[in-house]
Amino acid sequence: MVASTRIHLAMLVAAAALLRPSVAATYVVGDSLGWIVPPGGPIAYETWAAMHSFEVGDVLEFNFTTGDQDLARVTKEAFDACNSSNPIFLQTTGPYNYTLSTAGEYYFIGTMDRHCFLGQKLAINVTAAGSSPSPSSSVPPSRVSNTYVVGDDLGWIVPPGGEIAYKTWAYDKTFLVGDKLVFNFENGTQDVVEVTKDSYDSCNTSAPISVETISPAVITLASAGEHFYTSSYSRHCALGQKLAINVTSTSTGEAPCPSSIAGPPSSNPSPSAQSPTAGGPSSTVPKNTAQGGAKLGMGFSLAIMGVALGLVH
Ligand SMILES: *[C@@H]1O[C@H](CO)[C@@H](O)[C@H](O)[C@H]1NC(C)=O
Ligand SMILES: *[C@@H]1O[C@H](CO)[C@@H](O)[C@H](O)[C@H]1NC(C)=O
Ligand SMILES: *[C@@H]1O[C@H](CO)[C@@H](O)[C@H](O)[C@H]1NC(C)=O
Ligand SMILES: *[C@@H]1O[C@H](CO)[C@@H](O)[C@H](O)[C@H]1NC(C)=O
Ligand SMILES: *[C@@H]1O[C@H](CO)[C@@H](O)[C@H](O)[C@H]1NC(C)=O
Ligand SMILES: *[C@@H]1O[C@H](CO)[C@@H](O)[C@H](O)[C@H]1NC(C)=O
Ligand SMILES: *[C@@H]1O[C@H](CO)[C@@H](O)[C@H](O)[C@H]1NC(C)=O
Repeated sequence: MVASTRIHLAMLVAAAALLRPSVAATYVVGDSLGWIVPPGGPIAYETWAAMHSFEVGDVLEFNFTTGDQDLARVTKEAFDACNSSNPIFLQTTGPYNYTLSTAGEYYFIGTMDRHCFLGQKLAINVTAAGSSPSPSSSVPPSRVSNTYVVGDDLGWIVPPGGEIAYKTWAYDKTFLVGDKLVFNFENGTQDVVEVTKDSYDSCNTSAPISVETISPAVITLASAGEHFYTSSYSRHCALGQKLAINVTSTSTGEAPCPSSIAGPPSSNPSPSAQSPTAGGPSSTVPKNTAQGGAKLGMGFSLAIMGVALGLVH
């Protein structure tokens, strides 16, 4: 992500903070995957949905190519059966921005060929604006030292939808020196290795900075800067079990900037990317309106995630 976009993001974050309780957010469905027949099957959009929470007024940006995909909103019954014969709404030209205008459940499918059966389907819950569904148990109110459970209920696995899962998770989270990352995984099936940026980019885990083999692995973020984590098990990194975060020092007095999900991390951070007045460490996670913006799903009902986990195990 280039510096200008980072500045833009910082401004939006600041604006979002000023405009609380909330402003409408736009979510690109599936993030960089877009709206397609997902390679991993239905779990891709289940995972994506479970990592976000949606409010009335938010917009879903369905990014698809006209003629290759389409978009239908359907009933729950039609969603479950992949029955596209009587959609509530049908859009054949993409990309398309769907505004979530009322609270409740929304079911979307692709109607072409066997797209729905192959996993092009998205179910979400939309809550009334401002009613943040926050079981804040996973995020202590005190910002002195946060403990983050990596991937929330997904845990630390080879994510079904690829590396987008942990990018989405990290997006907009603020990591400060002293915060802890908790990696939950099954002993003997994963590990946590911290690696250099080069190793991370090339998925070469032969010379890790540190290795954690016992779950839960609790890692205290001891230094500011970029930190890169993956698993040293064969192909786990290549399949997307990787997490990159920016850790901000607490002592500088600067407002922390959220980790970026886009683009390769750069070694020369832009000083202007720091949000000037975002309210400091104790401010709540702002809802942002940037492309792919994610008001993170840590508070979102994890019902779907349960389904996802059921399929994984
Ligand atoms: C939509 O998909 C196209 C082609 O994959 C991509 O170039 C573009 O950046 C995507 N747009 C968004 C908003 O993600
Ligand atoms: C699909 O739904 C329509 C009504 O919406 C119904 O008439 C039809 O029988 C359904 N088809 C299947 C295969 O269930
Ligand atoms: C959807 O909304 C986003 C963000 O506001 C905007 O950048 C994009 O151009 C819109 N796309 C369409 C097809 O209207
Ligand atoms: C919406 O939330 C309700 C209540 O928590 C839950 O039973 C339902 O499965 C959710 N639906 C979707 C599509 O997430
Ligand atoms: C992986 O990294 C190690 C040490 O950093 C290096 O010796 C080795 O050549 C690298 N392997 C590949 C395939 O790049
Ligand atoms: C992993 O093993 C350690 C000790 O061997 C045990 O205490 C821990 O509960 C195990 N974790 C899981 C998730 O099974
Ligand atoms: C960390 O922040 C810098 C500067 O804002 C950015 O260029 C880089 O991509 C970020 N890295 C990660 C892993 O988010």
